Amino acid sequence: MSGETPSLIIRLMDATDLDRGFLEALNALKPVELTEQQAIEVYRDRLRSRIRTYVAIIDDRVAGTASVFIEPKFIHSGGVVGHIEDVAVHPGFQKHGIGRALVEHLLDECRKFRCYKVILDCAEGVIPFYERLGFHRWERAMRIDL
Ligand SMILES: CC(C)(COP(=O)(O)OP(=O)(O)OC[C@H]1O[C@@H](n2cnc3c(N)ncnc32)[C@H](O)[C@@H]1OP(=O)(O)O)[C@@H](O)C(=O)NCCC(=O)NCCS
Repeated sequence: MSGETPSLIIRLMDATDLDRGFLEALNALKPVELTEQQAIEVYRDRLRSRIRTYVAIIDDRVAGTASVFIEPKFIHSGGVVGHIEDVAVHPGFQKHGIGRALVEHLLDECRKFRCYKVILDCAEGVIPFYERLGFHRWERAMRIDL
């Protein structure tokens, strides 16, 4: 991306975004090894699971994406937690404020859902990106491979 920053739209993903370069943008995070048909199935599964997938659109192309899952809890008096997942900006659009705009949009959505906190896992290298957005280090991530 060069020159004047074109207008940026952030909205919920729909299936037609697969034709606007959605998977190519997501590839910035990890290789996406899905056919378009398989990707449509995953998209439908995610809708059923109430995972909210957002896209950043520039000139009718997907420049980036980020997702959030809103979890109502039994503890914290039925409080609500936002889980951010899969933040990715296409390499051709990085360092132009799109990642920031996506995460700030998700945080606004989490405020609307009255989340009392928003959490995410990330690699060491992107911690400064999230710290600039107001996040701080908290506890430890754990994993088991099945
Ligand atoms: C991390 C990523 C989403 C950032 O998106 P981006 O659009 O390039 O970031 P922005 O331009 O909005 O950057 C916002 C701020 O964070 C800084 N920043 C961005 N990436 C950074 C990094 N890796 N390390 C340190 N600072 C970073 C920017 O310099 C900018 O700082 P400023 O506000 O002082 O100007 C993008 O580089 C990406 O998709 N990386 C590969 C996938 C990935 O690692 N995703 C995170 C998964 S948890």
